[in-house]
Amino acid sequence: MTGRPSPIPPNTGSHDLPVSPALDAFMATAWAPTPLPAEDRVAGYAAMPARRAALAAAFPGERLIVPAGRLKVRTNDCDHRFRPHSAYAWLTGLTGEDQVGHVLVVEPDGEAVLHLRPRSPRGGGSSEFYRDRRYGEFWVGRRPDLAEAERLTGVRTVHLDDLGKLLTGPQPPTRLLAGVDPELDALAGRPSAALRAGDDRLEAVLAELRLVKDAWEVEQLQLAVDHTTAGFADVVRELPAALRHHRGERWLEGTFDRRARAEGNGPGYETIVASGAHACVLHWIRNDGPLDASRLLLLDAGVETDTLYTADITRTLPLSGRFTGVQREVYELVLAAQEAGIAALRPGASFRDFHHAAMRVVAEGLAASGVLRVSAEEALHTDSGLHRRYTLCSSGHMLGLDVHDCAKARAETYLDGVLAEGHVLTVEPGLYLQPDDETLPLELRGIGVRIEDDLVITADGARLMSSALPRTPDGIEEWMGGLLG
Ligand code: GLY
Ligand code: MN
Ligand code: MN
Repeated sequence: MTGRPSPIPPNTGSHDLPVSPALDAFMATAWAPTPLPAEDRVAGYAAMPARRAALAAAFPGERLIVPAGRLKVRTNDCDHRFRPHSAYAWLTGLTGEDQVGHVLVVEPDGEAVLHLRPRSPRGGGSSEFYRDRRYGEFWVGRRPDLAEAERLTGVRTVHLDDLGKLLTGPQPPTRLLAGVDPELDALAGRPSAALRAGDDRLEAVLAELRLVKDAWEVEQLQLAVDHTTAGFADVVRELPAALRHHRGERWLEGTFDRRARAEGNGPGYETIVASGAHACVLHWIRNDGPLDASRLLLLDAGVETDTLYTADITRTLPLSGRFTGVQREVYELVLAAQEAGIAALRPGASFRDFHHAAMRVVAEGLAASGVLRVSAEEALHTDSGLHRRYTLCSSGHMLGLDVHDCAKARAETYLDGVLAEGHVLTVEPGLYLQPDDETLPLELRGIGVRIEDDLVITADGARLMSSALPRTPDGIEEWMGGLLG
């Protein structure tokens, strides 16, 4: 296979040995053709044209640029694993690590064009395929060539090197999804650039178009939930070994993440494994503590599928296999709040309704137990919110390609909007009773409980996608007992 030589020298490491002309000439010869199977298509292929058409329709007569993103250095000459931006993945179906630097352009007439770095040419003046640590086929694996990528996606493809030409000279009104590809951002920052970066409307529309999930997306999310369920069971089975390890939280992080990498693309976000008072830190991802058999374990984790849809589930488990009386009391209050939140989910309900329903239960419970020294009514008044000292965050969010999905949607379509069939979201109330909180009786200090489930809004309510994981204290004890033998 031949192709155009890369205009830039290969990304080699300081410890790579020089290459002689004889070796370079030898490397350019005698490679058998290895075409991709002709029938291969991206997952979700059928849905993509309508997505791109909906985007084009929102900006008639404009050129829209949606980059996949760039590699980020982790250490010296080693990069973080690459994951394409969710909007790019949603519009193209291209979800692989090979999408580094690729760019989707939707032209003013609505035609989509993919600007890609094709498969490394073999020879023809290019040594990329065997010398380039970032993009060489022998270093990071094979990419499709332009014709293959066109067949895979149904989108016209051109070489990435041609993007610069497209963005210089006279241009139609152009919007760039900013903050994804620093090189394109820099281009847009030039005084002469016709490119409008930092454009909130493109970002918002891309988020809003993704709010309602189609049937295939719901299937992908269910797959993510099902793999996550398996990962939670793995963690419970691993508890005896983790309890013996001096950093049992890390041990369990590895257990869950192994499942996530084995079944999907990986964890959809950094896995939270919080033992005892660590559970009072909402996003405890240090995971460097030991496990104490008398305490609770909060596990907040999600498998991201190969198609990049993620689950987001939390269970709070007694490490001994049995809740103590106090642990059970706190747990049951959170569970009641979650039940109230779930009961408020239906098409047409305000997005904030489920949060308010859950918070009413929390405030009433805290007032009844004497923790809250004002009435629930008083606490729930917007001028007060005193109950929030113990619960801190909102009770859920949209879920999809991103764990906090569609976060750039405008308030009127999301936070101040209404629920619709096909929305997928979490309901995740919690109580976080800080270990140093002097308003609390000693026995409550250092208990953190969150219960988080994933739900899809249906025609007349909501379906619990994560129902395979028990939520009641009795159900959890029985499930753990079964797994631990
Ligand atoms: N795992 C992050 C969240 O629950 O929102
Ligand atoms: Mn969540
Ligand atoms: Mn979570």
